Amino acid sequence: MSQPRIAIVFGSDSDWPVMEKCVKQLKAFDEEPFIEIMSAHRNPERVQAFASGAEKAGLDVIIAAAGMSNALAGSVAAHTPLPVIGIPLVSGSLQGFDALLSTVQMPPGIPVATVSVGDAGAKNAALLAVQIVGRKDEKLAARFREFKADQAAAVEAKNAKLQKKLSS
Ligand code: RP5
Repeated sequence: MSQPRIAIVFGSDSDWPVMEKCVKQLKAFDEEPFIEIMSAHRNPERVQAFASGAEKAGLDVIIAAAGMSNALAGSVAAHTPLPVIGIPLVSGSLQGFDALLSTVQMPPGIPVATVSVGDAGAKNAALLAVQIVGRKDEKLAARFREFKADQAAAVEAKNAKLQKKLSS
């Protein structure tokens, strides 16, 4: 197996049903990510050790997801020069609004590229990671272009079907 270029870390096994979609989207581009559960609040030492060694380990981008008060993405970003994509997950009484604010409201100097809450964010985080890695891998960039073209064609096909229905 080749060295992973993308890492996916998340706060709990309860996040897996959503994070599985992120993994699936990456695998659709034949990217085999590094995957690990780690928690900024529950085992912060592991988060620090992972993030501070991530660049040396050959990673290019880190996806970090958590629900409730999502400190994971920010903690990872604090300990690495690599780009970090944060996914706010739905969990607890505030249903992801808390995680959205804590992921997006990073202080100046420590950026986290925050994607949508939940499922859409899990998919978009994978796509954004592919776009980033694609800057130095033309084959991957070409596959991403193809993905965009397929998506556009799918919308056009849906519209053609609708127009046909409207005119019948
Ligand atoms: C967060 O708290 C996790 O990422 C998860 O979304 C949420 C609840 O975790 P569990 O209590 O299910 O382990 O840190």
